Amino acid sequence: MNALIIGGGGREYAIARALRADKKCNQIYFASGNGASEKLGVNITAESFEALADFAANNDIELTIVGGEEPLTKGIVDIFRARNLAIFGPTKAAARLEGSKAFMKNFLKRNRIQTAKYIETDDLAEAKRFIAELTPPIVVKADGLCAGKGVIIAQSQEEAASAAGDMLSGASFAEAGRRVVIEEFLDGFELSVFAISDGKDFVTLPVCQDHKRLLTGDLGPNTGGMGAYAPAPLADETLIAKIKTRIVRPTIDAMAAEGSPFTGVLFCGIMVVGGEPYTLEFNARFGDPECEALMALLETSAIDLFYNAAIGKLSEVKPRFSAKSAVGVVVASQNYPYGQSRSAPITIESGAENENAHILFAAVTKGENGELLASGGRVLVAMGLGENIRLARERAYDLIAKIKFDGMQYRTDIAYQALR
Ligand code: AMP
Ligand code: GLY
Repeated sequence: MNALIIGGGGREYAIARALRADKKCNQIYFASGNGASEKLGVNITAESFEALADFAANNDIELTIVGGEEPLTKGIVDIFRARNLAIFGPTKAAARLEGSKAFMKNFLKRNRIQTAKYIETDDLAEAKRFIAELTPPIVVKADGLCAGKGVIIAQSQEEAASAAGDMLSGASFAEAGRRVVIEEFLDGFELSVFAISDGKDFVTLPVCQDHKRLLTGDLGPNTGGMGAYAPAPLADETLIAKIKTRIVRPTIDAMAAEGSPFTGVLFCGIMVVGGEPYTLEFNARFGDPECEALMALLETSAIDLFYNAAIGKLSEVKPRFSAKSAVGVVVASQNYPYGQSRSAPITIESGAENENAHILFAAVTKGENGELLASGGRVLVAMGLGENIRLARERAYDLIAKIKFDGMQYRTDIAYQALR
């Protein structure tokens, strides 16, 4: 089978690596990939979704997998489906679960799925009235996509009102902030639960925890994620059963009943308060770096899993995951997430990778002599596998010790929640 993967981060690299593990995998194409993805396939570029669909039709692509939210919320899946091309991901209408926080919160409310108390509004006076009813901290969210930066946890009513004002005026997030969600702060621990669905059935994957803050000790600004591990021991069977029956099942059923069945990966951001799961957010795609950990644990065919979900036959596959643990540590460039960093050659000791430690490349380019250059942002993920989290983490950090580039930074405490 030939596959096309849309994206070029560590997530897409990990998906390609998992597809490659199946003998059925013939050629993989990336649009647009990165400087290392040609180890796994061929990088292509295309001007538009139509051009990508043309490419898929002309190159015997039997399965297209979309990594990130942007093409999903812009409707890439609708364009492929209209041409009968199998594609893994939600339609534009279903991707509103991620693309609009107001849509998502109203969806949860009308379907009685537990979430933080909130209002959504485009009116500052109304926002202020609700803020006056809440005890800080108070959460203020821009409605639209803001690359993970649209959530403010305000420590006072004044700060909340001012954050809402800046969003509504367009000052902080332009159009994405013209509507806001104000909500109560939930004090608990967070889990990332991924469900793959074909619109009717779903399977859940091992529960992950991500590390959103830049620095060790959960300090510094929020990022796309500095490390992830799975399975999270904090998610016991009782809790997983509650998440499936109270959040995932009703969401899949209600999306279908409302006319936009959800196909692809439903990423549930869960806050657990006193043993009860609350939905903080949905994303319409895999998390990055959570995907890297999940793909490392998947033992059965990734092609069968994604393809069957894409064509509405998920019930025909029974994915199985390793009993091992996976810990992925993100290695980023010096100025991440503030700005660009100077491109720097990466050296990796030979023999650094083995069956329990591998590298997923993300923000890398290829230099003139074929060497890999760190090009800013989240450069790579060092993945360790082991019989337990402690061992997996040791292997991830042993691997990092064999990787060098100027300005490299990473957290030294990934998976600390599981080791306390
Ligand atoms: P979101 O994009 O909605 O997941 O928000 C980003 C992050 O903000 C989450 O991962 C949480 O850490 C935090 N957050 C969002 N909403 C709340 C809430 N109601 N209570 C506490 N923390 C929250
Ligand atoms: N790692 C979190 C995300 O991809 O949104």
